[in-house]
This record gives sequence, structure tokens and C-alpha cells, in this order.
Amino acid sequence: MKKDSILILDFGSQYSQIIARKIRDIGVYAIVYPYNISMNHILSKKPKGIILSGSPFSIYEKNPPLISKNILQINIPILGICYGMQLLAFLFGGDIKKSEYKEYGKTNFIIDNYNHHLFHGIPKKSIVWMSHCDQIHNLPKELKIIGHTSSCYASAFIHKIKNIYAVQFHPEVNHTEFGISIIKNFIFNICKCIINWDLNNFLKITIEKIKKRVYNKKVILGFSGGVDSFVTAYIIHKAIGKSLHCIFIDTGLLLKQEKEKISYLCNKKMNFNIKIINAKKRFLSSLNGVIDPEKKRKIIGKEFISIFQKESKKIKNVEFLAQGTIYSDVIESSLKYKKKNSIIKSHHNVGGLPTLMKLKLLEPLKKLFKDEVRKIGKELKIPKQILYRHPFPGPGLSIRIIGEINQKKISIVQKADNILFQELQNYNIYNYVSQAFIILLPIKTVGVMGDKRTYKYTSVLRITNTEDFMTATFSRLPYDFLEKVSNRIINEVDGINRLVYDITSKPPATIEWE
Ligand code: XMP
Repeated sequence: MKKDSILILDFGSQYSQIIARKIRDIGVYAIVYPYNISMNHILSKKPKGIILSGSPFSIYEKNPPLISKNILQINIPILGICYGMQLLAFLFGGDIKKSEYKEYGKTNFIIDNYNHHLFHGIPKKSIVWMSHCDQIHNLPKELKIIGHTSSCYASAFIHKIKNIYAVQFHPEVNHTEFGISIIKNFIFNICKCIINWDLNNFLKITIEKIKKRVYNKKVILGFSGGVDSFVTAYIIHKAIGKSLHCIFIDTGLLLKQEKEKISYLCNKKMNFNIKIINAKKRFLSSLNGVIDPEKKRKIIGKEFISIFQKESKKIKNVEFLAQGTIYSDVIESSLKYKKKNSIIKSHHNVGGLPTLMKLKLLEPLKKLFKDEVRKIGKELKIPKQILYRHPFPGPGLSIRIIGEINQKKISIVQKADNILFQELQNYNIYNYVSQAFIILLPIKTVGVMGDKRTYKYTSVLRITNTEDFMTATFSRLPYDFLEKVSNRIINEVDGINRLVYDITSKPPATIEWE
């Protein structure tokens, strides 16, 4: 671990990664560990500060995620956030109960006490982001309240003697007006960290390491065409050239001309070794009649693994499997203790691959967040059209066609999505939104075209803005753009006669519909 780092203990919150990202953005190394690592493990990392994250659990329910009371004795500054705050109060002997008033979203917060470093420079009244339904009752005598809201008397506290702080709100979420200042106060004024995290030497060091490790062996990479897999391939290619073999599986569930685009960029522009496997029929037949989104994901994951295994056996002298794993994936997959209904979707479609293939793993981006991957990609001069591509989910169009899929529906979505893409470019909107796509509903409605009745599918336009894909808001776009997209799709795509715009944020919705 780098010197001067902040260790985040994750209790299963959707926001734990955002805390780490915000701290790294400030220039201090931050790393996330599951809450149940041992105290010795924590101490061995020599963190300058510890943050206890939020959680979908409540302290008073059966088997909540807890930590040893010893954490209160280790003399490293601690900041508890949301559940982390309640947990600290609980460890000091406090009582946590369901509160009468839930607080969700933007809330007025009032500072009661400035006699500490945490709220240095923060105005007495500000907006914070809340997400809780529990409260501290009987605050332990060692603790002192330093802030409240109209329905939560203890919205922030400090320990009277120790370097222990806690806030009920989420300073890591953008909606908290002075959240970054509070985090900075904690890491610089309280933990006394110095700025130590920048990506300047990352490329040079990583390429050298790969060269040494791989030596004269071969590396295979399951290439998805997304930013992470491009940057991974590019770095490894720089290190070992033609010893990298990329395998791209055309599932038939891709966007229009995706295969052609990938082939052009890899073969012509970057000179990668890439093999494109046509597996359209196989995916379509295994998904036949499947409606449940999680089943779709499982089936697709299984097919991927089996095709990839078969193809990789055809390449000789392979010793390494490269993956475009980024830090968010590492954190997600370590959260085995997550509450059952807090696992919203099983995103990691090819999770079982490494163990099955008995290959050594090469994951050069595994410590980086997405925005850091883009910075590296920029340094590598990877074309903008790749670096700023919107993400595309592994299960592809199968989760954008709600319910049962078939070739006809796939073609309809591909055509509609392509029109959307063109208009996003024409209106110069593409780079200002985070993800934009078309969904096809299994609902037909009545329309009228050229004086004739139509009875066709309804499609949904989903366009969102987000920093981290954990929370998102629908994009507020000009009506003439929306009208143009709607007119073109209805006129040019046979099969759709209605387009609706999804104006739900995440939460409570998710970005994809399945
Ligand atoms: P949700 O729908 O969970 O999406 O709000 C957040 C981000 O994840 C993408 N997504 C997936 N990516 N496999 C993936 O590789 C999946 O099963 C999957 N489901 C959603 C989604 O496109 C968005 O960028």
C-alpha cells in the first residue's frame, strides 16, 4: 500500500466506491476492503485514516455486519458515514432504532459546533444527501453532537477525546453541497495525509512489469470492445506485441455494425491480433423463450465461457489470461457478504473464467477506477471515439429487449439505436450524456400512419447522466432533439409506432430496464 493512504471499510453500501474515488481525485491513495478483514490486516496496511461506509443493513437486525471494538483503540482517525456512524455509536454502547421519520435525498443540515476540524470552512446551514431510516437513541456520553437536521437530532458527532468523527449524511455524494470540503478536512486536517496519488508513471512501470512477467509466453484476452478492454489490450500490446491474442465473440446481441467497427479499429488502426467468433445462432437458441433477466445473464455468461475456453485451446503456448478488470469490479466481487436484496443485478457475467482455465491472470487496470482508465487511455493516444464510448452491458441487447427475445426484435432495436446514435452526434449531445439507448417493450399499441391503423411495439428512449453509474439522473434534453429521434424511429423502423422518454432517476430505477 502507498504511503499516506485512507482505508475504507465497506459494509455493503452502494456508495463505498465513490468515497474511494473522491479521495483519489483529491490526490490521496484510497483503497476499499470488506468490513470483516482482521484488525491485524488493517494495521498491517498502516492507513493514515479509516472510513466506515454506509450499509443496506440496520444494526438492530439479525446478524448485521459488525467490527471489533478494538478499532476504537488503535489511535488512527476514523470517520463513520451513515451506517458507519450508527456503528460507531453502537460500539460505544449507544442504541440504534428505526426512526419515526425517514430521510432520503436532499436535506437541510445545521452545524451545532465548530470546535473541531471536520467542519472547518463549512457554512452553518447547507444541503446534504441523506439515505437512512434509523437513528441513534441515547447518545453515549463519550460522544458529542456537532450537527442536526429537522428530523434527526444527531446527524453528526465527534468523540470528546479521540480522533473519531461521524456524519449521518453522505459527504461523498455530489448532492452534498460541501461534501468534498468535509472529506478534505478529514484527510488533510485530521489524518494529515499528503498528496501522493497520480498516474504519471503508471504506464511505464506497468508495461515493464508485463514484459518481464509474460516473457516469451502468450496472452489471451476476451475482448468486449469497451473502454476497459481496449486500454487493457493496448497496454499489453505495447509490452508484448503479437504475443497478445484477443478473442471477440459476436453474440448477435451487439449494436449495429459493432463487429465491423471493432474489426476495423483493432486490425487497421491498432494492429492487434484479434479473432472474431460468430456465435449468433448459439446465443439466440440458448436464450429462446427466456424472460427472466437474471436467467438471461447466467445463460450468456455460460456461453461466453464455453466458447472462450474452446477458442483459447487453439492458441499454443498460452500462459496468461488478460482481463479488463477495473477497481470497481474488484470491489464488487469481494462483497460476498452483501445483503441478498442489495445485489441488484449480477453484472459479472464471466466471473468463473479464471479458475476454470487454470491460466495466470493479467489485470493491468485492476487498481484503477474508470476515469483513471480514461486518463491512461488518453496518454496512450487511444482514439476519442473509443475512450468516450458509452458503456454497453455484457448481456447486450438481450436485456434491452424486455421479456422474450428473437432475431426480429434484435434488428428492430439495432435500427432504432443506430438512429439515436446518429442524432446524438448531429445534435452534439453524445459526449454530454453518459449512456443513451433504446429499449423495446413487449407491448404493442395502436397508432395511425397514412390514415391507416398500426399495431406495433412501444420503445423507450433512455438517456442518463451519471458520474459513476451507481446513481444517475435522466438527461434534460431539448424537445426538438427528442422529437427528431421519435419521428425518425417511428418513420424508419418497421415494428415501432411509439417512443416514450424515461424520466426516472437511479435510484429508484436502474439505468438498464432489466
Ligand atoms: P444498472 O442497470 O445496474 O446499470 O443501473 C449500471 C451500469 O451497468 C451496466 N450493466 C451491465 N454491465 N453486465 C454488464 O457488463 C450486466 O449484466 C449489466 N447490467 C447493467 C449498465 O449498462 C450501466 O452502464
